[in-house]
Amino acid sequence: MCVCVCVSVRSCDSSVCVCVSMRLQCVYVSVRATAVCEAENTLPLSGECLVQFDLWDSDDVPVPRKELLQKVKGVDALVCVLTEKIDAELLDAAGPNLKVLSTMSVGFDHLSLEELKKRGIRVGYTPDVLTDSVAELTVALLLTTSRRLIEATHEAKSGGWGTWRTLWLCGYELANSTVGILGLGRIGVAIAERLKPFKVKKFIYTDVAPRPELASLIDAEYVSMDELASQSDFLTVCCALTPETKDICNKDLFSKMKNTSIFINTSRGGVVDQEDLYEALSSGQIAGAGLDVTVPEPLPTSHPLFTLNNCVILPHIASASYSTRNAMSALAANNLLLGLKGQPMIKELKL
Ligand code: DGY
Repeated sequence: MCVCVCVSVRSCDSSVCVCVSMRLQCVYVSVRATAVCEAENTLPLSGECLVQFDLWDSDDVPVPRKELLQKVKGVDALVCVLTEKIDAELLDAAGPNLKVLSTMSVGFDHLSLEELKKRGIRVGYTPDVLTDSVAELTVALLLTTSRRLIEATHEAKSGGWGTWRTLWLCGYELANSTVGILGLGRIGVAIAERLKPFKVKKFIYTDVAPRPELASLIDAEYVSMDELASQSDFLTVCCALTPETKDICNKDLFSKMKNTSIFINTSRGGVVDQEDLYEALSSGQIAGAGLDVTVPEPLPTSHPLFTLNNCVILPHIASASYSTRNAMSALAANNLLLGLKGQPMIKELKL
């Protein structure tokens, strides 16, 4: 069997090891990308299948859509990241050979699940391995926002640091606070576990339904969306982007929040109505926001949110640690190869 795979992401070296353990019969590598070239030299032969990789060899820019549409023609499998929209147009361009999709992401809002299901395409993704990294970054972003660290370093560097003043650069502390989690999953739990030692008084959460098993791990109370908004001193968004959660953080939610509260989003930009957020921040309706995700990405530097001192914006780096990106890459490679062999993937979406 000869299998063609289009890889739209430059994978990390760890995926080589994963490929090695899969004992494929033979790998043909059509580009000089480190990871895959090493794999070509080290893969043992087992007679199972022959894989030919074609790789987008850049980490700096995503593969242009036009090129992707060309490259996927006739492939059996596709490895992608969240910058690629996998929709009917792309699946049509790929054609009927495509049976396996492996995305190097926990989020799958870039995938048209209905179209994938219709075509019987199996989908691997990379949950769990990034939980720690995302939780860690969320805590860092929360503290950066609530304790005004960006403003503070700017003042220190730019000569704004005068005499010690009682209320200068004051922020909000976690001790005795209520932390609200919008969408309780593995990441929400991991965030709460990290925040607990800061002496948070209470964790509350909302979701489509109570999640008692997860909630019991962090002693969190299930509340309504309105209660989440009105009670949270820190509100952190951890839900996936779906048609139901799109723009769920809007004027209605912000208007119920305390004007001392901090809003944090490390999930997807699409869950926030950014115009409403701008209004809430600039009018003092809420105290601050820390965003690792926006719409669009990158957020244009001329965007009004960048003009606000009480808004900290990061370029979608929550999972960006070397170990996590390596683990994501390894899991994506494993999912891909298991999918090609017709075996259950390690992490496969139920379509
Ligand atoms: C994901 O995996 O979906 C994150 O947003 C990026 O790592």
